[in-house]
Amino acid sequence: MRRHLLSSADLSRDDIAMLLATAAEMHDIQRRDVKKLPTLRGRTIINLFFEDSTRTRSSFEIAGKWMSADTINITGKGSSTSKGESLRDTVLTITAMAVDALVIRHMASGACHQVAGWVDASVINAGDGTHEHPTQALLDAYTMAQRLGDLQGRHVAIVGDLTHSRVFRSNVITLGRLGARVTVVAPPTLMPSGIGSWAVADGFATSGNLDEVIASGPDAVMMLRVQRERMSGGFFPTAREYTVGYGLTRERLRALTAANGEAVICHPGPMNRGLEISPEAADAASSLILDQVSAGVAVRMAVLYHLLAGEEVAA
Ligand code: NCD
Repeated sequence: MRRHLLSSADLSRDDIAMLLATAAEMHDIQRRDVKKLPTLRGRTIINLFFEDSTRTRSSFEIAGKWMSADTINITGKGSSTSKGESLRDTVLTITAMAVDALVIRHMASGACHQVAGWVDASVINAGDGTHEHPTQALLDAYTMAQRLGDLQGRHVAIVGDLTHSRVFRSNVITLGRLGARVTVVAPPTLMPSGIGSWAVADGFATSGNLDEVIASGPDAVMMLRVQRERMSGGFFPTAREYTVGYGLTRERLRALTAANGEAVICHPGPMNRGLEISPEAADAASSLILDQVSAGVAVRMAVLYHLLAGEEVAA
């Protein structure tokens, strides 16, 4: 593996397999009474979050702590960024304290790549604008594989606000590398322009018809949050119309189960219950949403381990 994790494209199929295998070992730690490994003792990890986060930030913090690293959280609002300090000055200031890794979430697509060019520390992309969120894609793959087994040849539908979703962009890459067949579903206004010409893996398809995709019996349906905070205009007429066309409603949950009794439901969170996903679907036995959160810690432990303690850490 490289020194940074900036994009899902940085990870080969073998890298992904190695990370998921390590994550499975790390997951066992979660079941212990004493959740502590000495692996990253003496290492310092800074979580630098310029956008809101519940699960990503806390899971990175827990992951570091369970491996005995010193982890510190800095948020945009409480930092000198609000006094006008630039991103470059902020990260140079932080890394001057000899930190080993920076976990960064930023509203600008490409911010993590820029930071990686400025610092010696390992940089981990925890979500940059609408670009990528590689550890989310890893934890999604891990969670689906736990239930479905090998994802080679499995059909995954990713549904919703694709335009604003970094989760979808990373998932398309990671699932493609694992041999899954991905169909992305969105209303025309939330389908990224030019997506048909994306050079992604075999079997990649786009659709505007969620009912048809559900009737085809996918193995997993990943619902995405409608990201209103990134929308400046009207991307759909009303919330009700969005739900009617693209929500995983109670009726669609029934149709999914009828089409494929083994199908699972994922959502990266946070959910807009009643908009893109109904409570019945979110809380169904086939919902893996809380398993995804649990896997998030294990996967981030695996990523930190391979970047900071692995044998192949580059100079
Ligand atoms: C996602 C994100 O921040 O990109 N959430 C997450 O990390 N679990 C998705 C979202 O905000 O909708």
